[in-house]
Amino acid sequence: MTVYFGAMSGTSLDGVDIVAVDFYEEKPRVIGIESEELPKKLRNELLNLCSPGFDEINRSQKAANELSELYALVANNLMSKLKLAPKDVRAIGAHGQTIRHNPQFGATTQLINGSLLAELTEVDVITDFRHRDMAAEGEGAPLVPAFHYSVFSSQEPRAIVNIGGISNVTYIGGAGKSEETFGFDCGPGNMLMDAWIMKHFGERYDKDGRWAASGKINQVLLTELFEKEPYFRRVPPKSTGRELFNLDWLESKSIQKVPKADVQRTLLELTVCSIKKSILDFCPSVKEIFVCGGGALNPLLMQTLKNAFRDIKVGSTDMLGIETQSVEGAAFAWLAKQFIEHRPGNLPAVTGAKGFRVLGCLYPA
Ligand SMILES: Nc1ncnc2c1ncn2[C@@H]1O[C@H](COP(=O)(O)OP(=O)(O)O)[C@@H](O)[C@H]1O
Ligand SMILES: [Mg+2]
Repeated sequence: MTVYFGAMSGTSLDGVDIVAVDFYEEKPRVIGIESEELPKKLRNELLNLCSPGFDEINRSQKAANELSELYALVANNLMSKLKLAPKDVRAIGAHGQTIRHNPQFGATTQLINGSLLAELTEVDVITDFRHRDMAAEGEGAPLVPAFHYSVFSSQEPRAIVNIGGISNVTYIGGAGKSEETFGFDCGPGNMLMDAWIMKHFGERYDKDGRWAASGKINQVLLTELFEKEPYFRRVPPKSTGRELFNLDWLESKSIQKVPKADVQRTLLELTVCSIKKSILDFCPSVKEIFVCGGGALNPLLMQTLKNAFRDIKVGSTDMLGIETQSVEGAAFAWLAKQFIEHRPGNLPAVTGAKGFRVLGCLYPA
């Protein structure tokens, strides 16, 4: 076995997922996943750190350490579950928590303390996957398309759509055509729906889209959210995050007179519209879309997405052998492997970087 762990905590701030992948055979095999929710206090602190505030440096340091302890707990649990010793895991690729992403001036911050994680797990840790791509004039995001290309390509063009806090699409032109592969952020995935239900019911997310299902699409609001936001019309490469799509953004629109459930339903539609536009405008001749990320677990979102396309089949990555919840984590296991083997982790066509680069930074066990 050649086992790598990939650790991800995405923009949803729902928790930490660590995925174990065996790269021994040509086709990587996911052999385990372990997740842990973020404790409420840490979650709120991470959320607050996403926008300017008081004493950010000390607060970031503390949050990074707490988060690293949580990553270590999950990694150690996963090792126990799989009966692996630290020496059996070649490395952990740890993404950390993005609190700022500023491609316009070539900088990004993912909170994680690689030294602490290496200390607590006794495994080599790779972090900081984005800066090198940015140093080469890339957006530093999204990074997962390179992994999607390596494991999901087939003869026919395909699209992989990850619906996390933000949704992003990877277009795979076909096997052996890495230069035709590209990816970009479509827009908000679950993030605005999460924020809206949190505000009104204190719930982390709209389970199975039930609240959205009780509302109606408000076309006037949808037009304002979708047609008037320049991000949706920008040409890739492009990436986005909480800096743009947050509650302030939503509340600056004409939502005051719209019933709250209708806002939720309209936000779900916004996610679907932005994915649909992304595919139709920029992913030519795609016949199949495979969805991953937490959004794949929302039946209303999946059904609405299926209905949005006439000639394109919409399924999930389960059909390709990697469960929807494991794909992002597996991507960071793959990125760690690329680093250890001194191979590039980016695709310049995706990020806009000047060339292929080895991504990451090593904290030895
Ligand atoms: N059963 C479900 N019904 C509706 N939404 C869900 C469900 N399960 C997960 N989600 C959504 O998926 C999100 C987490 O997705 P994830 O892929 O982990 O995103 P990220 O990479 O941003 O952390 C949750 O915040 C929630 O919005
Ligand atoms: Mg998550």
